[in-house]
Amino acid sequence: MATLRVLAPAKINLHLEVLGLRPDGFHELAMLMQSLDLADELLLAPSADGRLALTIDRQDLPSDGSNLIVRAAELLRSRAGLPELGVHMQLRKRIPIGAGLAGGSSDGAAALVGLNRLWGLGFAAADLHRFAAELGSDLPFCLEGGTRLCFGRGEILEDPDLPQRPGFGVLLVKDPSASVSTPWAYGRCRELRGDFYLDHEEDFEQRRSALRRGPLLEALQGERPLPPLRNDLQAVVEPEVESVRLGLRLLREQGEARVVAMSGSGPTLFALYDDGDQAEAAGERLAPSLQEAGFEHWCCRFLDHGVRVEDTPASAGGA
Ligand code: C5P
Repeated sequence: MATLRVLAPAKINLHLEVLGLRPDGFHELAMLMQSLDLADELLLAPSADGRLALTIDRQDLPSDGSNLIVRAAELLRSRAGLPELGVHMQLRKRIPIGAGLAGGSSDGAAALVGLNRLWGLGFAAADLHRFAAELGSDLPFCLEGGTRLCFGRGEILEDPDLPQRPGFGVLLVKDPSASVSTPWAYGRCRELRGDFYLDHEEDFEQRRSALRRGPLLEALQGERPLPPLRNDLQAVVEPEVESVRLGLRLLREQGEARVVAMSGSGPTLFALYDDGDQAEAAGERLAPSLQEAGFEHWCCRFLDHGVRVEDTPASAGGA
């Protein structure tokens, strides 16, 4: 049966600043997010049985209604008023799980885009964006992708309007036995820093402007070298997770990278290089030390888009 193939890219946070706490309990954020060419693959095949069936090539992920892919499918067919729609979905997982790389969010965003196409629902991009924000704070970015400023709880996207797309190479490093819960990381941030959170919209806006006009954006515009990256959750996670401390030290001391930081709520770490070849070379050079310390690593590049339906249909059960 003909299937649709959707690619769901990972992201890293080049900047993650926690500004304050919102009345809805989420944190007000100022971030710069970047898509990577490390992507999960979601295959979709129509079915007439009215089921939303999901299979995953890993045992450690739920494939029931708690999976964002199934939740996205349910939301879409309910908003379309067509609860009888069915689909067989197959997820090939490439992005590490519980890692701060938005793998689950990107899979959910891929389901929204893919099923809108497969079922011929005709929802506009703005509708999908709204559904994405209902499902999770990172999903709107995953839909659009590339390099984006993300404000609010992460769902308000702004194009940083760069003259050319940044072409950095990335070395990702993760201890396969470590994972960090995002609600835990934000909860701990609140315990540690809550008394110093900003309270007013004017103060939030002042921080957004500082990011829009600050040294990181200038560096991406080619006007100066990369400054140290800021991730407020790194300060929360680093003291608690030994592999984060170890990985950061290894990358800083031996990685010869432009910058080193943690992505999102971690525990994945990344090092940036001038281009993909340099990231590959660093990966090869560091492989023995990383392996000895029990880390997995991936070399990838910046990507200028989010989830995308591949034009060539794959065949179900194919490679
Ligand atoms: O939106 P999402 O479901 O991905 O968020 C997961 C959890 O992370 C939230 O329940 C909340 O605890 C925390 N979070 C937050 N502020 C944000 C985004 C997430 O406190 N802006």
